[in-house]
Amino acid sequence: MDLSSAFERALPSPGWPLAGRHGTLAVFLASDAWSRWDDEAFTLLDAGERERVLSKRRPDDRKLTALAYACHRLLLSAVLECAPWEVPLGRDARGCPVVAGDRLLTSLSHAEGLVAIAVSPQGPVGIDIEPAARAGEMEEIAGRVCHPRELDALSALPGRQRERALLSLWVRKEALLKAAGIGMAVEMDRFEAPPDRALALPGNGRHGTATIRLFDGGDRFLAAVAAAPGAITSAWLAPAD
Ligand SMILES: CC(C)(COP(=O)(O)OP(=O)(O)OC[C@H]1O[C@@H](n2cnc3c(N)ncnc32)[C@H](O)[C@@H]1OP(=O)(O)O)[C@@H](O)C(=O)NCCC(=O)NCCS
Repeated sequence: MDLSSAFERALPSPGWPLAGRHGTLAVFLASDAWSRWDDEAFTLLDAGERERVLSKRRPDDRKLTALAYACHRLLLSAVLECAPWEVPLGRDARGCPVVAGDRLLTSLSHAEGLVAIAVSPQGPVGIDIEPAARAGEMEEIAGRVCHPRELDALSALPGRQRERALLSLWVRKEALLKAAGIGMAVEMDRFEAPPDRALALPGNGRHGTATIRLFDGGDRFLAAVAAAPGAITSAWLAPAD
């Protein structure tokens, strides 16, 4: 079976991606489950995407990035009902993925064997995913991630809980920064990022508000989506055996 068919079969139902025409859609996947399509993923990419993949030094990063870009195209092609290579997917000057000539906004995250993709026709969208194991690295950067009020609130928590809360803050803030289209242009300690309420987009990128929703993947991952309020249609995608 080819990658496109496997991706289609992994979706909850054939019409499932069409939900992305009305509301926010998010998918999450682990690259090791999809590794049999590593080579094929690369063939679905355009010249710019291939160049970015080949610029990665580590083979694992090349594989993960190729899979992430291919799945990004496959999800958008399912929403837009066109072939993956016909998806007008590009990047703006800040590196933010854009779908040309369409009111669909989109966001991508890839980290250590994990991929997360979001699309929304409702306004700015940002997604971030991190492996749960990264919680152990968060303590040393707490001062750079937390707004002083968040730092105060976290100080009451015991070790493990505090590390997990810090990782949660990190993914929520990255998702909000990506929705703003500005990457790390605004320091994380300059703004707060509580979940489930409308927040002004930070910085001088896209204007408007977004609501952050947290996706707790237990021992596997933490992810967040910043998007318009309302339900997010989401799925963990694994190929059928
Ligand atoms: C956006 C960013 C914070 C995410 O980094 P990360 O957590 O390490 O990686 P993630 O996998 O979660 O996200 C990366 C993806 O976010 C998207 N992205 C990149 N820049 C973005 C931006 N300004 N806004 C929204 N999304 C962006 C891209 O799809 C990128 O994938 P790619 O690098 O393969 O093209 C980081 O890429 C960044 O800060 N980029 C901006 C760089 C910048 O400002 N450079 C200025 C010159 S130094």
